[in-house]
Parts: sequence; structure tokens; C-alpha cells
Amino acid sequence: MAEIQTKRLTAREAYGRLWHDWVKKHWPSLMVSVVLMIIIALTTAGYAKFMEYAIGGLEARDVNIVFWAPIGIILLTLTRSICHYSNVILQNRILSRVQADMQREMYDTLVEMDLGQLLAEAPAAIAARFSADIELIRMATVAVFGSLRDVLTLIATIAVMLSIDWAMTLALICVFGLVFLPVGIAGSHIRNTSKEIQQEIAQMTSAVNEGLSGIRMVRTYQLEDTLKATSNKSFERLYHLRVAIVKWQAALSPIVEALAGVAVGVTLFFVAMRIQSGAIDIAGMIGLITALGVLTNPGRKLTQAFAIGAQGISALERVYGFFDTKNTVTDGPDTVEGGRAKGQIIFDEVDFIYPDGFQALKDINLTIEAGKTYAFVGRSGAGKTTVFNLLPRLFDPSKGEIFLDGKEIKSLTLKSLRDQISLVSQDSILLSGTVTENIGFGRKGADEQACIKAAKAAAAHGFISKLTNGYDTVIEPSKATFSGGERQRLSIARAIVRDAPVLLLDEPTSALDAESEASIKEALDALSKGRTTLVIAHRLSTILDADQIVVMDGGHIIAQGTHDELLEDGGLYADLFNLQFDMSPAKNGHPKRHRHVSRRPAQGPVERIIRMMGF
Ligand SMILES: Nc1ncnc2c1ncn2[C@@H]1O[C@H](COP(=O)(O)OP(=O)(O)OP(=O)(O)O)[C@@H](O)[C@H]1O
Ligand SMILES: [Mg+2]
Repeated sequence: MAEIQTKRLTAREAYGRLWHDWVKKHWPSLMVSVVLMIIIALTTAGYAKFMEYAIGGLEARDVNIVFWAPIGIILLTLTRSICHYSNVILQNRILSRVQADMQREMYDTLVEMDLGQLLAEAPAAIAARFSADIELIRMATVAVFGSLRDVLTLIATIAVMLSIDWAMTLALICVFGLVFLPVGIAGSHIRNTSKEIQQEIAQMTSAVNEGLSGIRMVRTYQLEDTLKATSNKSFERLYHLRVAIVKWQAALSPIVEALAGVAVGVTLFFVAMRIQSGAIDIAGMIGLITALGVLTNPGRKLTQAFAIGAQGISALERVYGFFDTKNTVTDGPDTVEGGRAKGQIIFDEVDFIYPDGFQALKDINLTIEAGKTYAFVGRSGAGKTTVFNLLPRLFDPSKGEIFLDGKEIKSLTLKSLRDQISLVSQDSILLSGTVTENIGFGRKGADEQACIKAAKAAAAHGFISKLTNGYDTVIEPSKATFSGGERQRLSIARAIVRDAPVLLLDEPTSALDAESEASIKEALDALSKGRTTLVIAHRLSTILDADQIVVMDGGHIIAQGTHDELLEDGGLYADLFNLQFDMSPAKNGHPKRHRHVSRRPAQGPVERIIRMMGF
């Protein structure tokens, strides 16, 4: 498990896979693009040939050439421009398609990825993969693909040169070959620095996000300076990396151009020698010089493409790392549809270790009777939520097995297993959509009436009705438009709609005021009737209503029983109970009085204790 791995790739591997998996399928459009590029290359190289022809004609005092030369040049450049324009449009269409496909697949991978891997990755690093890396890949692919045009132009132009004077051309190729030597060296530096830049950007985004998401705490604790300092460090590192990369990028073009200048000088020398020896004439010389001039543009573009292409490799490595994550929580080969469960759950010798190596559960053995309510209590960090996470297979146990109605949960399809479970968690997350949709997410095909009924049962109808558009109000999860208690009630309504035989309630009423709690408690009682209910609760009323109480500590189940049995045993439960509910005999032998006083008259003994707690 653990982090998403990135494997170092060669340019060939990185782009080969890009070609094979993403680009190749657009071959008809690519063929058109290749044809356009060939025309571009021929018209570009034809320019030099045309010059030789025109000068030759002028030398021979051919009057026709005065007429044909301008027309020829105009036609040549016009054709080239039209093809160039069409090619840019076409290539960008293909590559934008590739970009969209990659993003879609990345998102699909993300949504289905094992939680262990997902949680090990900084959210900002994932966001960077989505935006920055894909954009870089696009730029790199445009450059790399476009370089085919430049290579073709290079070949065609060299062919023209060969036709003018092959010996000279071969000499020139050797001289110009030297130009590409520094490109390779700079490319590897650019690639490494680019990798560091991407990592730094991810860290910076993460720092900025964290600061802003906790802005209330930041302001209250006056942590602005700490935040600024952390972010500033990141900005500074980025500054240095950017300067470093630009140094290499910027050096590349002048070096190439300077070397090209030297090469042109050498060429002129050769040409002069050849003219003197009578090997070529003036027309041939002009043709050669024009060809060299024509070559500088694709030559420069090729060096740029090389630099951007090198950056693209590291982006591709990261993106492939993402695609290549292997999910372990998946449907095995022999999984079956389980049908509606009765709800008996057995944990058999279950251990769980989080991806970071922390052992959160040890030797969990527990039989939960169908239709009964089990309350899980224990100190914070005891492993209660972790037990819950194992049931819908958000994680798989590191050791041991879990059974639902006697069937190992791994033998059921994930869908049929998860269909049996409703969850109301500490973080009751809402999704984009209307209020009705958010409740309806509980069950596919839930109609509006069912959602409204569930909202009423979850004591959510009141506040929903007060919204501007009632049930049709659009929820924007990124904006905090609901209070914690309201979110929780929506989440409870969602669970009611779901109507699953197993109910997981992780502190379901933690964010509710006394009045709302009382009203939804009734709904939850009705909901849990006939269902296997596992509830993590710190509240006495919930604990007392449970058929069994499971006491957890340090990843172990240390006791199990009813409230009275556990109190009698005098273990951790009694300690927690006494500590939390402040019922231990004080030194003078009388129970301590709680400072909070109820505003409402207390009823039974349980109610009295709750009131004393100030709820
Ligand atoms: N993703 C994670 N990676 C590593 N360790 C984790 C992760 N999630 C939880 N833990 C650790 O596992 C232990 C059990 O966590 P768990 O969330 O199950 O506790 P809990 O009993 O539900 O506590 P609480 O009452 O505070 O909600 C804790 O020590 C916690 O730090
Ligand atoms: Mg918890």
C-alpha cells in the first residue's frame, strides 16, 4: 500500500506509452496531420530549391522567371501557411481530447482508489497531478508531436541541399551535428529541476490550502505569521528552482544559436572554396545559404521541443504512477451477490495496521447478533472508527476475517456488501446537488416523497423548509451553508432512505442540540429497530439503550456486556463512566454535584443523569 509510486522512465518508455494508450486511437486525424506536416516540410524546403532555380534563371537571363518567380514564392508560402494553420488546429483538437481522456481516467482511478493509498497522498499533490501535470503533458506532446514537422522539414531541406552539392552538405551536417550536443546535457538538468518544481508546487498548494481551510483557527490563535513563514519558505524554494531551470532553458537557445553562427561561418568558408574551384555556381550557393537559413527555424524549435519534452517525461512518470496503483480492496474472482443480509456480524482474530505502520486493531474477536444494537465505547483513538471502516471494506484487515451472516465479506461483491450498510459518520459529507438529491444519494432511485419522509423523521424538515428553495436548494459543499447539526441530520435522513439492514452510527448525534437530539433519537430508535446497529457514542442515553456495550482500548476489545455488568466489573468502562459522568463518590462520600443545572424538569433516573450533564 502506502504512497503512489513513480517509476523513472526513459523518453521512449514515457512517450511510447502515451502514444500507445492515448494517442494512437486518433490515427485517422493523425494521418491528416502527418500529410499536412509533409506538405509544410516540402514547401519549406522547396523555398531553397526555388531560390536556386530563380537565381539560375536570372543568371541565364530567362525572362519567364521574372513572371514565375514571384507567383511561385507566393503560392509556396500561401500553401505553407494554410497547412500550418490547419495542422495547429487539428493537433490541438487531438491533444485536447487526449488531455480530457487522461483527466477523466485519473478521476475514475482516484474515486476507486484504495483509501490507504489515497490518504497517504497529500490532497494538493493529487490536485497538482490533475492540473499542472496534465497541462505539462499537453504542452510537451504538442512540442514533441510538432517536432515531427521540424524533422520532416530538416530532412526535406537536407535533401535539397544534397541535390545542390552533396559533398558540401555532408560536411555541413557534421558541423551542425555539434550544435545538438549541448541540448542533451541541458535536457537532463531541465528534467530534474522540473520534477523538483512540481513537488514544490504541490507542497505550496497544500500549505496554502491548509492555511485557508483552518482560517478561523488561524485568526483566533493569531497564527498568520507562522503560516506566512511556512509559505514564504516554499515560495523562496520555488523561486530558486525556477531561476535554475530558466538558466538552463535560456542557455540552450543562445548556445545553439552561437554554435549555429560558427557553423554558418564555416559554411561560408567552404562555399567560397567550392565556388573558386568551380564546384558550384552562384545560384547553387544562394540555394545552399537559403536552405541553411530555412533550417534554423526547425532547428531551434527542435531544441525547444527537446527541453519541454524532457519536462513532460517527469509529468508522465507521476501520472502513470497514479494510473498504476493497484487496488487491493476489490472484487475477487469468486465473489457472489449476497442478497439482503439478516445482519449477524463476526470479527474473527482481526488485526489492522494503517499504511503508515500504526497498528490500530489487535485480536478483535466479536460476534454481533442480527438486529441488536451494540454500543462501542472507549477513549479517543481506541480504534472504534477503525472497526467501522473494516465492515464496508473501506480497508481490509491486515489479519483475520469478518463475516456477515456467516459469509466472509470478501466473498461478497463490494456492491452487494456495501448495499447492506448505512453509515452516519463524524464527517457527514454533503455532495453537490439539491437537498433532495443529497438525501436520495442513500439509495438509487429514491423518490422525492421518500426523501421528504426521511427528512421529517430525521428532524431535518424544519430547517429545509426554511431554505429559499426548500428541498430544491442547491448545496455547494465547498461553502459552509449548513451548520454541523444540520449536516448531521441530512446524513441521518440519507441513512433512513437507504433502509439497509446494518447501520453504522459514528457519533450520530454529536453535533446536535438537546432538542434536535431528542427528536432524532426517536427516529434513530425506530430506524435501528430490526437492524443490526453499531453505534459509537459518548452519550449515556445511547449507551444505555444498547443491547451490548463493547469497550475498546488501545486497539483491543477489553470488555463486553450490559451497562450494569460492566459497571459491576469496575474496569475501564466504570472508570470512563465515572470520569465522564462525574458520578464517582466524592471524598465526603457523596456523589459530586454537576455544575450544570437542567432548565427542564428531570424525569427518570437516566434522564436525570443526562440533565445533570447539561445536555
Ligand atoms: N489514516 C490513518 N493512518 C494512520 N493512523 C490512523 C489513521 N486513522 C486513524 N489512525 C490511528 O488509529 C487509531 C484509532 O483511530 P480511530 O479513528 O479508530 O479512533 P476512535 O476510537 O474512533 O477515536 P475517536 O473517539 O477520537 O473518534 C488512532 O490512534 C489514530 O491515530
Ligand atoms: Mg472515531
